[in-house]
Amino acid sequence: MIKINNLNYTYPRSKKHAVVDISFEIKKGEIFGFLGPSGAGKTTTQRLLIGLLRNYTGSIEIFDTERSKQKSQFFERIGVAFDFPNLYLKLTAKENLDLIGSYYKNKRYEAEELLDIVNLLPEANKKVDGFSKGMKMRLNFVRALMHDPEVLFFDEPSSGLDPVNAKIIKDAILRLKSEGKTIFLTTHNMHVATELCDRVGFMINGQLPVIGNPIDLMVAHGEDRIEIGYDMGDTLETKIIPFKGFNEDPYFREMMMADKVKRIHSMEATLEDIFIKLTGNRL
Ligand SMILES: Nc1ncnc2c1ncn2[C@@H]1O[C@H](COP(=O)(O)OP(=O)(O)O)[C@@H](O)[C@H]1O
Ligand SMILES: [Mg+2]
Repeated sequence: MIKINNLNYTYPRSKKHAVVDISFEIKKGEIFGFLGPSGAGKTTTQRLLIGLLRNYTGSIEIFDTERSKQKSQFFERIGVAFDFPNLYLKLTAKENLDLIGSYYKNKRYEAEELLDIVNLLPEANKKVDGFSKGMKMRLNFVRALMHDPEVLFFDEPSSGLDPVNAKIIKDAILRLKSEGKTIFLTTHNMHVATELCDRVGFMINGQLPVIGNPIDLMVAHGEDRIEIGYDMGDTLETKIIPFKGFNEDPYFREMMMADKVKRIHSMEATLEDIFIKLTGNRL
């Protein structure tokens, strides 16, 4: 669906290269995440992919057409949520969506349907001016969906949201995936990346040195040991033993028979650990 080859970009009058020779592909129906710290180049990449920035080198193929050769039809097929909510503050939530829907030929949803997905239906007729940050972020998110696009771009969709709102967004993204949508998202949150993405790319200083499935990466870089918690009456005793053949371990077997094994935890690395290990930087 998306094929990026040796993409480079430098902002006008800037000496620093914002995107440095990155290549990746996103298949139809996949959630692909860019994980990286602030300033890594995630937003710049999204802006390049959706055509907000020009004068790049390398290639950006979306729907088998080079980005610079896309016709206006392209915008009917993609949906975008920017990292800052861009909404009409003087209009209500419903009016915002109705107006945005009117820009598209392919308007598929009623505003109410989308507001309901992100629990904003009770707020449908309130002015966005009075919305909290979380409400604006949720409205900004569904704003991308009015025309039922095939490919979605979400820039830090749950950044700064409380856990309840973050979960609403997460569930909405999974629902879009189940409908077969292709999703590109950027995040600096490893939990978001781990839970949502089929594949992640680590972005740092404009480069993309690592691409992989989050679970595969965690297993590949994790320690080959497991942590076992044994019930000791008042306390829990924790022991770390090799993963290989752990079920043959005599103590483990004895405790298992006595029904005293309370938890078994594989010691996979987190994406943050791997990010630090492979890039030398924190998220
Ligand atoms: N409009 C701009 N003009 C010049 N430099 C910019 C502009 N926007 C971003 N940058 C620079 O490009 C780099 C990548 O930024 P950005 O893509 O926003 O990173 P991220 O989204 O990963 O936080 C940073 O060094 C940033 O300072
Ligand atoms: Mg950004």
